Amino acid sequence: MRRKIIAGNWKMNGDQAFAREFTSEFREAISGFSDGIELILAPPSVYLDRVAQNLEGTPVALAAQNVSEYESGAYTGEVSARMLKDLAVTYCLVGHSERRALYGDTKETVVSKIGRLCEQGIQPILCVGETLEQRSAGQAEQVVAEQLTSVLDSFNDSDLAGLVVAYEPVWAIGTGKTATPEIAQDMHAFVRQVLAEKSQELSRRCPVLYGGSVNAGNAKALFGQNDVDGGLVGGASLKVNEFNNICMSMG
Ligand code: PGA
Repeated sequence: MRRKIIAGNWKMNGDQAFAREFTSEFREAISGFSDGIELILAPPSVYLDRVAQNLEGTPVALAAQNVSEYESGAYTGEVSARMLKDLAVTYCLVGHSERRALYGDTKETVVSKIGRLCEQGIQPILCVGETLEQRSAGQAEQVVAEQLTSVLDSFNDSDLAGLVVAYEPVWAIGTGKTATPEIAQDMHAFVRQVLAEKSQELSRRCPVLYGGSVNAGNAKALFGQNDVDGGLVGGASLKVNEFNNICMSMG
């Protein structure tokens, strides 16, 4: 049985007051969610500690949105995997399409970042997905396969034990254009097939989340698909009631 996960990615939004209000309302709602769901919040790194304190005693896990590809040293502005570990961070997003498109994260940097995370026992949430242009050209599977295999080929099974994959079609991120449940299911089944080429055990165990304009209205249909093990939620994770409803829809 694969883990069910809902992760909220706040991106570069919010402030201390937002973090305080969100976490206190979220705390109240958690008891109403189904027991089997793992909840993850990915606030901006400067608020990780604050959010951790506010959620102490709850099962909510923390994710960072990014990590340096280097261990330590003269890398002004960067945050290392060891620093994240120090803040009790359990997960870290890697390869988000915004990082790939805006900050030049390549397949090689994604692999380096995952390497740093593995050294610290932080579980990577590897984001993969195709652009609209690539989908229109019939290249969706090829693009996703390349993003996955560059990582899968670089690590052994034990390094990948904590891997989580998020399929996030770039055309669905922040656009309000969600993938249909059928597209999501097809792509998730494909992701699982690529994982199986590395290891059957990994394919059986690795949660594959859907991301891209998930909201309270479409979550149930998406999460109801066989190979969709939960969601990586951006915009809708900033509205606590909406996010609570998304968590509730994963019954
Ligand atoms: P969105 O973002 O839900 O706002 O589309 C998803 C993501 O980027 O992880």
